[in-house]
Amino acid sequence: MRLSLRLICALVVVLTLVSLLFSYAQFKGERRGLQQDLQRRAQILADSLQESVEPALEKRSRRTLQQLVERFGNREHLAGIAIYDQQETPVAITSGLRKRFPDGAFAPSKIKTYGRDAREFLWLNSVYLNVHTVPLDTDQGWAGTLVVVHDADYINAQNSKFWKRVSLRVVVEVFLIGITALLIIRWTIEGPAARTLQWIRASRAGKVSSNADLSERDLFMPLRNEVTTLVQSLAAARESAEKEARLREAGESTWTAERLAVHVRSKLNSNRLFVVSNREPYMHSREGKSLKVLIPASGLVTALEPILQACDGTWIAHGSGDADRETVDQNDRLAVPPDEPKYTLRRVWLNKEEEEGYYYGFANEGLWPLCHIAHTRPLFRSLDWKHYVQANRKFAKAVLEEMAGTKQPALLIQDYHFALLPKLIKKERPDARVAIFWHIPWPNPEAFGICPWQRELLDGLLGADLIGFHIQSHCDNFLETVNRALESRVEWEHFSVNREDHVTAVKPFPISVAPNMEPTKQPQDWRLASAEREALLKELGVDALYLGVGVDRVDYTKGILERFLAVERFLERYPSYEGKFTFIQIGAPSRTHIRRYHEFLAEVEAEAERINWRFRSNGWKPIVFRKRHHSHEEISRFYRAADLCLVTSLHDGMNLVAKEFVSSRDDEGGVLMLSRFTGASRELRDALVVNPYDTEEMSEAIHYGLEMDSKERRARMQRMRQTVKEQNIYRWAGTLIAELCQVRLDTGGKKGKANANSAA
Ligand code: G6P
Repeated sequence: MRLSLRLICALVVVLTLVSLLFSYAQFKGERRGLQQDLQRRAQILADSLQESVEPALEKRSRRTLQQLVERFGNREHLAGIAIYDQQETPVAITSGLRKRFPDGAFAPSKIKTYGRDAREFLWLNSVYLNVHTVPLDTDQGWAGTLVVVHDADYINAQNSKFWKRVSLRVVVEVFLIGITALLIIRWTIEGPAARTLQWIRASRAGKVSSNADLSERDLFMPLRNEVTTLVQSLAAARESAEKEARLREAGESTWTAERLAVHVRSKLNSNRLFVVSNREPYMHSREGKSLKVLIPASGLVTALEPILQACDGTWIAHGSGDADRETVDQNDRLAVPPDEPKYTLRRVWLNKEEEEGYYYGFANEGLWPLCHIAHTRPLFRSLDWKHYVQANRKFAKAVLEEMAGTKQPALLIQDYHFALLPKLIKKERPDARVAIFWHIPWPNPEAFGICPWQRELLDGLLGADLIGFHIQSHCDNFLETVNRALESRVEWEHFSVNREDHVTAVKPFPISVAPNMEPTKQPQDWRLASAEREALLKELGVDALYLGVGVDRVDYTKGILERFLAVERFLERYPSYEGKFTFIQIGAPSRTHIRRYHEFLAEVEAEAERINWRFRSNGWKPIVFRKRHHSHEEISRFYRAADLCLVTSLHDGMNLVAKEFVSSRDDEGGVLMLSRFTGASRELRDALVVNPYDTEEMSEAIHYGLEMDSKERRARMQRMRQTVKEQNIYRWAGTLIAELCQVRLDTGGKKGKANANSAA
């Protein structure tokens, strides 16, 4: 039986029963009232008759008695009056009563409740009567009985009228409530349920993926929201299965998130994975009354998320969002991703002084310029160092707390914020496999040697079993620095360091971006790309034929000013491009609490302004500087619309912008101009590789890039895309984890003495 029918039947039965129950109670009350009213009237009549009857009875005057009863006998509802003597012989009976009933019908012995003021309702000859008897007394004592008989049929008539009314009311009520219930069920349950079902079916078939067309007030909205997440997961799984199938079909062994997940699970076996980074993967911030989740645009997050998700690990990071404390439990943990929790995020809190000294001071004013040879003097303050040590200890404490109870945990530490962490952990947990990946360059020993705490930093780092850099030359620089600064044995044939019986392997792992698995665009899609580009230029209010793009954090290592100078020189040398070529610099302000960054941002703005002032003409200017954070989607539009992408870092560990640009060009268009001082230039050999300090060379490269023959452009882009597809982020994470899991532990010796070796 359909749900609505069952519901309505149940509702009708219950309603009818309840209604009848209440009506019955009401009926009983009304009937009792009518009966009592009638009895009262009988009583009054009997009382007043008794007074007149008794003297007449004494005198045995039958005539007087007959007259008396006849006189009283025409009252409302009165059937009649009878007087019996002691022998129950009728002495006087009203004529009406005599006609309808036999004379002895109301003799006291025939009436059950005979007695003083006895009253009774009874059925006689199918007539409903109230019989009221009163004993009659004379001076000689009891002399007879007075019987007052009332016709009580009207009570039954009123009762049946009552039940008729009740039945009608119940029918109307049940009908109205049933109809209302039916409509409500139709509108709020059956309709939405049917639409939800239809939507789930369509979603299952992959025809729709959003529930935007469904009403917010809908009863099934929460269910749909859940199903949406499920559908999205299914769609993603389906898509990746298709990708995998395509890759298998093409005989390719490209790394994907799924392959990485399987790989990580099999490598880690039953060991738990822990990751530490300064930046967290999810930040909570407050916007009015609601909480917002931000995912920092970071290659690191893209790379590490699939690993953590695959193995339900723990990510320990600085809680820097203004609402971060509101979203953690009493152990400062929360399950993430917030929509579909798969691993644990443990937040570490830093006070203002710590953040100032550790993050802004030592890490970003000291180590950052020290490792990037970009001619900004590193600043080393002992207070910053103190905070750096303190913050590393704080993170170590959190990591050790998280690792408690876990055997042979694997720890992946990220970047220059945590040089001391490997040793701090290894000292307490020699059974842990510890790796640190240094995301920025490592300079030559002379450059690194200016750091007053270089020995402490190296000592801390060498606590790790594995140290990763982007490229081999950074590994070489590191090993040479260790060789010069510390007492240790550098084993060049294995690229490892043996210090105090602990072996640290040093290896390159070139980081990358998630591969774009979309098939290459067909010629008709290129028109779409150019339409998109026109729309973008319109939005920018720029009238240009050629477009160059640069995407960076506004950082002095990125060569932004050098890029502007190259654009200026290009326009000087090739004035025919005036009014035709515009360079768009997307610049996300970064670390602006640091004076050098603050000043640099102003320098970039001033330089763009100066060049624009020199060349601008009606509706055109050579440089557009967009100073704000842009989402990944926004940046993709610029990448796809650009003729030229300029990556001109003065020094860069890898530079993912170069790889993102290549990855997003599924039309195989666009030219990449790439600084030779980036790690990426080792892999993307089909870029126009330039020296950012050589303005002439760069301006010439811009010209070459814009005039490049389309065949050459396509061939270069095809080769670069193949490289990025193969050397992708999942490969980076996969090889790093594999290497870490192969570390051989020797925990047999004294505490803190861990002999580890890479099997590579
Ligand atoms: C570089 C570092 C990362 C850092 C990123 C953004 O890529 O290697 O560790 O997260 O810059 O900098 P921020 O200071 O904003 O985290």
